[in-house]
Amino acid sequence: MQLYRLIYVSDVASYIDWSDLKDILLKSQENNAQLDVTGMLVMMSRKFLQVLEGPAEALNALYAKILRDSRHDHSRLLTYMPIAERHFSQWSMQGVNLSMMKSEFKEFLIRKYGQTPDGEIVVPDDPFLVYSLLYDIYTNSKA
Ligand SMILES: Cc1cc2nc3c(=O)[nH]c(=O)nc-3n(C[C@H](O)[C@H](O)[C@H](O)COP(=O)(O)O)c2cc1C
Repeated sequence: MQLYRLIYVSDVASYIDWSDLKDILLKSQENNAQLDVTGMLVMMSRKFLQVLEGPAEALNALYAKILRDSRHDHSRLLTYMPIAERHFSQWSMQGVNLSMMKSEFKEFLIRKYGQTPDGEIVVPDDPFLVYSLLYDIYTNSKA
């Protein structure tokens, strides 16, 4: 079956904390396993960056549901493309809280992708660069 990769970035709602992220992850792991969807959700200080991989029908329905979630808004779709194989397959949904990662790793990401005026790592609009950012985070946080 043809697989697709979808990447989007969104703004975190103001009231979200670490326990909300855990709730989102638990639910996602349960649902995505049923849908044959894998991926990773990165929580930055003000943004969610998520990659989802799986069959088109499942991805479309899931992304439509995620868009309606009030725990974030202003979602921007960065990539939706057919893929030969999954690259984010370790988890049905792996959660990464970037603020909990080692400062050397964050500095590495800032050197490579740049820094916003408020000190956050730049999330590139370019589909290849945003994939590369996610893949750096994925390989660094792999068990
Ligand atoms: C940033 C973000 C990412 C999410 N990612 C997923 C996901 O990958 N899979 C999923 O099932 N729900 C995800 N959700 C939660 C959904 O929006 C929704 O609350 C959940 O799927 C409802 O599950 P239910 O239909 O089983 O009650 C995400 C929510 C947010 C805010």
